[in-house]
Amino acid sequence: MSIGISIRKLVPSDSGIYRALMLRGYSEHDSAFTSTFEERATKLPEWWTKRLQDPTTATLGAFDTGDSMIGTVRLEVFQRQRERHKINLAAMYVMRDYAGKGVGRRLVDEALNEARKMPGIETMSLTVTADNLPAVRLYGKVGFLEFGRETRAVKTATAYLDKLHMWRPVSADYVTQ
Ligand SMILES: CC(C)(COP(=O)(O)OP(=O)(O)OC[C@H]1O[C@@H](n2cnc3c(N)ncnc32)[C@H](O)[C@@H]1OP(=O)(O)O)[C@@H](O)C(=O)NCCC(=O)NCCS
Repeated sequence: MSIGISIRKLVPSDSGIYRALMLRGYSEHDSAFTSTFEERATKLPEWWTKRLQDPTTATLGAFDTGDSMIGTVRLEVFQRQRERHKINLAAMYVMRDYAGKGVGRRLVDEALNEARKMPGIETMSLTVTADNLPAVRLYGKVGFLEFGRETRAVKTATAYLDKLHMWRPVSADYVTQ
């Protein structure tokens, strides 16, 4: 089932709602993210505003029909001269009440469209916790291919977690299976 949502690029004045949504994500899905709730909850409001100001990034928000933000995803262009054709997709989160309704798919599709507008961007990469099946399946569905697995990439208080590395060309001509 898909629901009516709109997606737009977040601006610095969205930093309060962005912070609130991401903190909810970190607390609801601790193992899905490398950053922890505690690390991010202690960041000052300016840190969140700067995140949305950085011109080498784009952060998208998905809004329901009541204009509440229910999901988000972030793009970060690689910085070194020889890597500026690459962009990383990160900080993907859809609120639990809205999960499984096509919001995540829309966010990744829009992230690809956004990357296509950025000059010189050719490929998109991401990492995902290996046992996070909803996310791994979503990325596979939109054409990301796994190219590696980092064993013990993350060490939590109770376990080591592996991360999968995934990749796809940004071009709309790239045919997904
Ligand atoms: C992963 C996440 C972003 C998916 O968002 P979503 O809006 O629920 O996903 P969608 O409804 O758009 O589903 C798209 C595809 O993802 C896969 N998927 C989504 N939820 C799934 C689930 N619970 N089990 C299996 N596959 C699932 C399916 O392939 C689905 O396609 P289909 O419905 O045609 O089968 C969301 O569950 C979430 O925020 N999880 C917690 C945070 C997280 O894991 N972030 C990613 C960090 S890398």
